[in-house]
Amino acid sequence: MCGIIGILGDHQAAPIMVDALKRLEYRGYDSAGIATVEDGRLDRRRAVGKLVNLADLLVHEPLAGLAGIGHTRWATHGGPSVANAHPHRAGRVAVVHNGIIENFRELRDELGGDWESQTDTETVARLCERYLDEGMPHRDAAFATIDRLEGAYALCFLFDGEPDLLICARAGSPLAIGHGDGEMFVGSDAIALGPLTDRLTYLEEGDRAVVTRAGVEIWDIHGNRSNREIRRVPVDRQRIEKAGHRHYMAKEIHEQPQTLKDVLDLYLDGDRVVPPDGYDFAATDRIQMVACGTANIACSVAKYWFEGLARLPVEVDIASEYRYREGPIGADTTALFVSQSGETADTLAALRYATPRARAILSVVNVTESSIARESSVVFPIRAGVEVGVASTKAFTNQLAALLCLAILAARQRGEIDAAREAELVTGLRRLPALVSQALAIEARCEALAVKLAEATDILFLGRGPMFPLAHEGALKLKEISYIHAEAYASGELKHGPIALVDRTLPVVVFAPMDPLFDKTVSNMQEVMAREGQVLLVSDAAGLEAASDGVWETLMLPEVEPVFAPILYAVPAQLLAYHVAVAKGTDVDQPRNLAKSVTVE
Ligand code: G6P
Repeated sequence: MCGIIGILGDHQAAPIMVDALKRLEYRGYDSAGIATVEDGRLDRRRAVGKLVNLADLLVHEPLAGLAGIGHTRWATHGGPSVANAHPHRAGRVAVVHNGIIENFRELRDELGGDWESQTDTETVARLCERYLDEGMPHRDAAFATIDRLEGAYALCFLFDGEPDLLICARAGSPLAIGHGDGEMFVGSDAIALGPLTDRLTYLEEGDRAVVTRAGVEIWDIHGNRSNREIRRVPVDRQRIEKAGHRHYMAKEIHEQPQTLKDVLDLYLDGDRVVPPDGYDFAATDRIQMVACGTANIACSVAKYWFEGLARLPVEVDIASEYRYREGPIGADTTALFVSQSGETADTLAALRYATPRARAILSVVNVTESSIARESSVVFPIRAGVEVGVASTKAFTNQLAALLCLAILAARQRGEIDAAREAELVTGLRRLPALVSQALAIEARCEALAVKLAEATDILFLGRGPMFPLAHEGALKLKEISYIHAEAYASGELKHGPIALVDRTLPVVVFAPMDPLFDKTVSNMQEVMAREGQVLLVSDAAGLEAASDGVWETLMLPEVEPVFAPILYAVPAQLLAYHVAVAKGTDVDQPRNLAKSVTVE
């Protein structure tokens, strides 16, 4: 979603800000803008669409100045247009904002007059300008403005006549202050600030900050001055390059053997699972898992593992539903939140609902400095490195690997497996990076099949057991990046409705490893073929040998013990979607309307 950069530097700020905004492109956006202060004078440039449009505008109408703020906007209130793009300005004030100001209509009514944009953010600039008009100093005017806001925000103010001042606030949307040598920076995440500095102070919920080149002063939610820690957060440049791949998504799919090894190194020790932090799953009688998008699908797979291996009941909820359902959480229930970014607004809100109620708050996150990580009692990192492609790939397989390790740990703690079985499972886990590497060899076939699949208007994905959530992942990936309608169904449920859709134009992707449910899945596949559905069977050598007669096409994956199959079958789900999107020529890394980290509800 939206991205923020702020600079008080000793070089021209505009090119540095455009560069920083490029690093934020992965979050998803539809317009961008910057403002600077030069000779005390505030000015701004904004453009709709990709950053190249802003860069072009700056060639024709340059913006000088050593201080500035910049923003990539993902439209919420008001469509993508220059007028709605940030920074918003009112007189002496320019502001960039991530989040949603919920009481903006009331504020608009109160302020009256004409409005340049349809956004909630313009009210922030207008309100602050009014307080300046009333004679308040800059800090007081900005703080008085912030006092009036309801909703979620990360804000950064820049003022006419003030080339050494940025005022920031955080409530619900993350914001980091970067410390340079005689320069200071503000960014919505560490990636924005990566090449500028690795010394970061993360604002806490409710914090306000006054930034000058001399440093930062922070006030906490109660108005007390607070000294927040400066942390070193190295951003691995290597991992945010495309490394020879056409898209970040392709690079991230191919990184999976390595990223899986990275997470397993963190959770395995000899023959045992030893996670980086401890939790006693024997002392809980239920797990409530909550997440959004692909992370939610990882939870649905994990349910099979926790229930099957550890005999521990699991409920899985979509965060946006869970947070308002106000479902009861028993004191013996463990709440577990899965999130790549650790900033998804609905997941965070669900976490806050569960915090006073659940036995403990566990999170499985990629970004360990995130809000979700910071508000959890136990954090399980997934070590996937920076994931730039909007469609999650390596974070998904690493979420699965971490969750499987936790399920094995739970099984041991609850006496459901002995040391020998644990050692066997750990051996299987250690083989996974190599198996995923082998699985990637299906890429050329996926590319060839994609040409045909790209012509479809609808595609159905089927699976049973843990392959059912995998079918969901296949359908979600395909929808996200190729814009083809896809649906996932539990194979056995097909005859209760969706079989009516089947005809010779419908491709049906069936995930069916040779597991105890194989024959059942194949029966459902036969029902599809009997109605001329075009089946793409994804299985292993034994499965294809047994059931490929009459199917349209096949994809062969290595054989693997069923418990590990979900991690391996993520590969065809990803590669099929990727190559269909490439065949259709869509914007793979930044698909229309989507954002990497959804910080509004
Ligand atoms: C967005 C992204 C998805 C992601 C979901 C949850 O929709 O496009 O790839 O799975 O948010 O994000 P999280 O950061 O909480 O895992």
